[in-house]
Amino acid sequence: MHLTLRQLEVFEAVARLASFTRAAEELHLSQPAVSMQIRQLEEAAALPLFEKLGKKIHLTEAGREFFHYSQEVGRLLCELDEVVEALKGVQTGRLRISVATTANHFATRLLAAFSQRYPGTSFSLDVTNRKSLLDQLASNDADLVIMGKPPEGLDLEATAFMDNPLVIIAPPGHPLASVDKIPLKRLQDETFVVREKQSGTRIAMERFFEERGVQFKTGMEMTSNSAIKHAVEAGLGLGVVSIHTLELELEAGRLTLLDVQGFPIERHWYLVACRGKRLPPVARAFFDFLMGEEASHLLSAGKAS
Ligand code: PGA
Repeated sequence: MHLTLRQLEVFEAVARLASFTRAAEELHLSQPAVSMQIRQLEEAAALPLFEKLGKKIHLTEAGREFFHYSQEVGRLLCELDEVVEALKGVQTGRLRISVATTANHFATRLLAAFSQRYPGTSFSLDVTNRKSLLDQLASNDADLVIMGKPPEGLDLEATAFMDNPLVIIAPPGHPLASVDKIPLKRLQDETFVVREKQSGTRIAMERFFEERGVQFKTGMEMTSNSAIKHAVEAGLGLGVVSIHTLELELEAGRLTLLDVQGFPIERHWYLVACRGKRLPPVARAFFDFLMGEEASHLLSAGKAS
């Protein structure tokens, strides 16, 4: 049987996602290109791999065998990649790191300092939300992830390295701006500009209010912290953001922090990897760098106060 790795990769995506369209999107291919690869693979096997029942596609018995082996091949290729990276050592390795949207406010500074320390290394950085970070760890698309506390029960190793207080921001002229110790219940009448549902900040905020039996009104929903800050400044509502997203807005008087009882919400930043994964030396070096003194100076120098 003559088949190519590319055909197996395309097949694996179609089988996993049970959709030609979604596999085409994930692999950045056209749908006819995906169909052609599958047709060629079926010709090589001389057996059908999918069958269509109604609108859904299902694996045939041969398809299920192919799916098992295509996943094994994918896993072995990743392992080969890791072994090759290990042979290259730290000096020329490539770090695959993904960080939460909010963590990007300090991650690029850390990566710049790390690159100076190890000039031959390179990195790919993906900035995305919590759900997609967990997916990337599961599919081995990232070696390391910086995020809020990952959920219990997943096979992950998470090490806390910095606190991440969430604060309430308001425009300086807001009636509550001059009030001390505002009771949480008082915020029931206020509208909040919020992050998207998959955001760690949003999840923590919702949990905080829910645990205290206080409702809050959500107004506009935005996927970026900068957009939230601009919206709050423009008077569209209050916002809950990490203190790390605030740069010069407080000093410049464009935003103010509200003194609300129970705030800030105490969170932490974690460096997360899959438990038992053999980290490439460059990722191990980044781990040690982040837990070391240079990084902790950098991080405390960058903190808004
Ligand atoms: P996020 O931040 O809101 O940008 O997803 C991550 C977190 O605080 O967990």
